[in-house]
Amino acid sequence: MDKKIVFSGVQPSGDLTIGNYIGAIKEFKKLQEEYNCIFSVVDMHSITVPQIPKNLRQRTYEILATYIASGIDPEKSVLFVQSHVPAHAELSWVLSTISYMGQLSRMTQYKEKSQRSDENLNAGLFTYPVLMAADILLYQTDLVPVGEDQRQHLELARDLAERFNYRYSPTFVVPKGLIPKETGKIYSLKEPNKKMSKSDEDLNASILLKDDRDTIIRKIRKAVTDSKAEFRYCEEQKGLQNLINIHSAFSGESVEDIVGHYKNSPYSAFKEDLGFLVADALDPFRHRFDDLMKNKKELDEIMKTGADKASYLAHKTLRKVYRKIGFVQPK
Ligand code: AMP
Ligand code: TRP
Repeated sequence: MDKKIVFSGVQPSGDLTIGNYIGAIKEFKKLQEEYNCIFSVVDMHSITVPQIPKNLRQRTYEILATYIASGIDPEKSVLFVQSHVPAHAELSWVLSTISYMGQLSRMTQYKEKSQRSDENLNAGLFTYPVLMAADILLYQTDLVPVGEDQRQHLELARDLAERFNYRYSPTFVVPKGLIPKETGKIYSLKEPNKKMSKSDEDLNASILLKDDRDTIIRKIRKAVTDSKAEFRYCEEQKGLQNLINIHSAFSGESVEDIVGHYKNSPYSAFKEDLGFLVADALDPFRHRFDDLMKNKKELDEIMKTGADKASYLAHKTLRKVYRKIGFVQPK
């Protein structure tokens, strides 16, 4: 029982891309052999931007199915939906009272999102990282596997854990991030300076896990590279660099080996191979995913069992927190 605890979450806010897969979900599968893993579909986070209820419901099932189809075993790991465990909202409130407005207003994601959506500058967008800290700290998490874009939010979770521990005596484990180096950020296929995002309006900018083989191959064929016609891995050739990272993530080959292999080939030959590589790699995933989505009853069972397990763990921490801050415990 002294295995370390891993927690991560994915929002049901759009169709998942290979960025989510490479940066996060693919790593989760490896971790479950060594650690006690808890993975959540963070639906409460996703409503910080407007969602269509019917789509949100469907996507919640889809993220759960994605976890399982990527090899996460619900017998080994806890899989649950965030809103099924009210302790997340409860701890989030407590943590918000020790969060500084200044620090929250410096969060890059908040700044970006608030600039984009001034019509809906809701308070949830601002306190989003506090809810994320609650997710993590409730389970006494040691390790948090996420993509590079979550580094700052993770830092906040660590600060809040330390601040609470300092003020009220040791209560929370101070979590560490687990961020893959090269693949922590996969970029858009159309604008390689921007991260690949499930909310991108340009459908050719991202490869979705749901895309069929032909779509994947076509999108990679059309990916933006450059006119240097030199097969190198460098910052000046961001488009190519990104494609090499994608290759490495799916083939397991090192960047040097890939560059060695293609250095005398045109980009088009590399892109052709990459298209097939990604399509082949995602084939088994897509089949399992489709099967799982046909059987919502089974997914319901899995989320129910997961919520029971998660609630038990979350309540242990929440009770401790309430006791330390001086809330009277019901007798
Ligand atoms: P989200 O889609 O924001 O719920 O993100 C789910 C997970 O995928 C998080 O761990 C993100 O850091 C990760 N992620 C999202 N986009 C990318 C990307 N373009 N490259 C690498 N990881 C990503
Ligand atoms: N904010 C994360 C994202 O957008 C999702 C998330 C919510 C999360 N709670 C978490 C990730 C806890 C790791 C741990 O990607």
